[in-house]
Amino acid sequence: MALSSILVIHGPNLNLLGTREPEVYGTTTLADHIASVGAAASAHGVSVADVQSNAEQEIVATIHAAIGKHDGIIINAGAFTHYSWAIHDALKSFPGHVVEVHLSNPGAREGFRHVSVLAPVVSGTISGFGGLGYALAVEALVELTH
Ligand code: DQA
Repeated sequence: MALSSILVIHGPNLNLLGTREPEVYGTTTLADHIASVGAAASAHGVSVADVQSNAEQEIVATIHAAIGKHDGIIINAGAFTHYSWAIHDALKSFPGHVVEVHLSNPGAREGFRHVSVLAPVVSGTISGFGGLGYALAVEALVELTH
């Protein structure tokens, strides 16, 4: 089935992008990243919705609500990436493709970032390319669903 609607989910502390550890995450704001996703998606006639939450339960509820509403998910779960089995389980219930994105390259950072508990339930992961990762994630979803 062709892709028509993408949901972009951001987890904790990513609302602070732009000012949070700019040496790691750059100075681009979350709103700017969402605009990049929108531009990449609109080139394919795909619509984008986005949610940012610092609360695990809200992210779980957002994933549940996406079932039957969106065809693909792009998720940067922030630190939840490394320990949220609740988000893992919720993504497992989502029938469409899921692309995990990280601005930084967690594998090159502290040990606790080396494991993603989401990795087993996503279609693929894009890490370490800064904001470019979001446009790449859109292209991946388009490719996976065409
Ligand atoms: C991050 C990497 C995570 O380890 C970290 O907790 C974040 C951001 C990234 O985009 O590089 O909040 O997901």
